[in-house]
Amino acid sequence: MRISFKLNGRDVTCEARDNISLLDLLRRELGVKSVKKGCDQGECGACTVLLDGSPVNSCLILAPKLEGREVTTVEGLQKDPIMRRLVDSFIEDGAIQCGFCTPGMLLSAYALLRDNQRPTIDEVKRAIVGNLCRCTGYVNIVKAILDASERIRDG
Ligand code: FES
Ligand code: FES
Repeated sequence: MRISFKLNGRDVTCEARDNISLLDLLRRELGVKSVKKGCDQGECGACTVLLDGSPVNSCLILAPKLEGREVTTVEGLQKDPIMRRLVDSFIEDGAIQCGFCTPGMLLSAYALLRDNQRPTIDEVKRAIVGNLCRCTGYVNIVKAILDASERIRDG
């Protein structure tokens, strides 16, 4: 089947099997490697992307669902001020170890801070509840997201 959608602000039209996941389409066909394949079953969040602005597990989205939609990965937010502050805070707070969970974690955090620039700890924890991290124990990730929210408020 032929599908057309927006990827990081650019129009994409491609041929795709109707049972290919967005995750495989991004990694195998479109060369977007920040999106990680962990469980491939909707359990780990490593494959998180924004679909029309909301975080989703791309391993659970099949190609026919993409027509006319907008997909965003971290590559598309490199110059975004909220994402830049998140990345700075993740680095400074030691919220990245192996980095496998990081792109998905950043996108979940981004969606939170885009809509709520004064989140509570519980709101931060809820925002990343679907993103598993095997390295950090989450403490530094939660701290980094709260620190980023402060940086955003400070301008
Ligand atoms: S790879 Fe999609 S949720 Fe784990
Ligand atoms: S930093 Fe390794 S899984 Fe999160």
